[in-house]
Amino acid sequence: MVVDLEIFEKNLQTMAAHCRNTGIHLRGHVKVHKSPEIARRQVALGSIGVTCATVAECELMAHAGIHGVLLTRQPTSRNNIGRVIALAKREATFGTVVDDPLAAEWLQEAAAHEGVKLRTVVDIYAGLTRHGIEAGEPALELAKKVDTSKNLKLIGLMGYSGGASHTKGWAERRKKSGDDLAGLTETLGAARSAGLPLEIVTGGSTGTYNIDSETKTLTELQAGSFVFMDTIYRQIGGKTDAAVYSDFGPALTVMTTVISKRHPRQCTIDAGNKALLRPTDQVKGRPEVEVQNQGAEYGILAWKDGDNGFKLGERVELYPSNLDMSTNVYDRYYVARGEKIVDVWPIMGRGGAAQR
Ligand SMILES: Cc1ncc(COP(=O)(O)O)c(C=O)c1O
Repeated sequence: MVVDLEIFEKNLQTMAAHCRNTGIHLRGHVKVHKSPEIARRQVALGSIGVTCATVAECELMAHAGIHGVLLTRQPTSRNNIGRVIALAKREATFGTVVDDPLAAEWLQEAAAHEGVKLRTVVDIYAGLTRHGIEAGEPALELAKKVDTSKNLKLIGLMGYSGGASHTKGWAERRKKSGDDLAGLTETLGAARSAGLPLEIVTGGSTGTYNIDSETKTLTELQAGSFVFMDTIYRQIGGKTDAAVYSDFGPALTVMTTVISKRHPRQCTIDAGNKALLRPTDQVKGRPEVEVQNQGAEYGILAWKDGDNGFKLGERVELYPSNLDMSTNVYDRYYVARGEKIVDVWPIMGRGGAAQR
């Protein structure tokens, strides 16, 4: 994986400036890059912490010295609860979300056993049926339960509208985001009236960053993909450019090599299914070339006419379709300024169940 440092740094600066100018905070999601190097750069530009999808990512970031780590996926296994409490004991700014009263009880019990107070956010349903308690009374009750649990400290609410993040067209995206967050907004009003202590309201994505800062329900963004961008995000259209979401530039490529050229209008590269090659990937500098899956370790680049100039052994860079998936199968980022590799950053906290 190759990071174009110039585009990457510009992406970070664009988001940091947006946050400064609009007053919203950034607690960016690290599931996209899994790199403490990137988290540190974001903190240096004003991020108040990071959000993580797995306990392994939380441990990685906290151990790398990042404060304000928030786990956005409720821990429910004995393993995950134990590690969450251990992390809270070591790093007081760490917190987790809950969307179920039972999980709140398990966390309270484990926190009491270790004598710690765990920062806890109530995760409210915002259009994705994978997580989040129902808005209104159930969410309010859970927030009160957390607030009165001796070893939990209620710090806020979360609402992640994953459906809005990739909705095509900025106006359509704004509408979807508003609809999905309506329950959170209503619950927020009720929780404030009930005098509950809400430091943060967290959610948002790369797709909605300039919608969330406008609607003001959220106090902070969990946007992650903007650091590199991927081809699927580039297609959703922006506020000013309906065709391409160009607010952030494509900063990450997968470097491949042409390994065969025996047939007309195509050549073979050494990246296939194991490299998570997708037909929606794009070839850097050659938008007319199509990407096709061929096998575990083979991919095809195809075009309509002529020879197209690809040479045996040539290096070809591809923009991946989905960062979360692709970055998870590589060990490191080669960081390039122009044509020169100036740094190597490890990709960490990946892999199987033991690390999750
Ligand atoms: C809980 C949560 N928050 C925020 C995000 C936003 O990430 P991105 O900006 O990469 O779309 C995601 C992405 O899937 C997520 O799962």
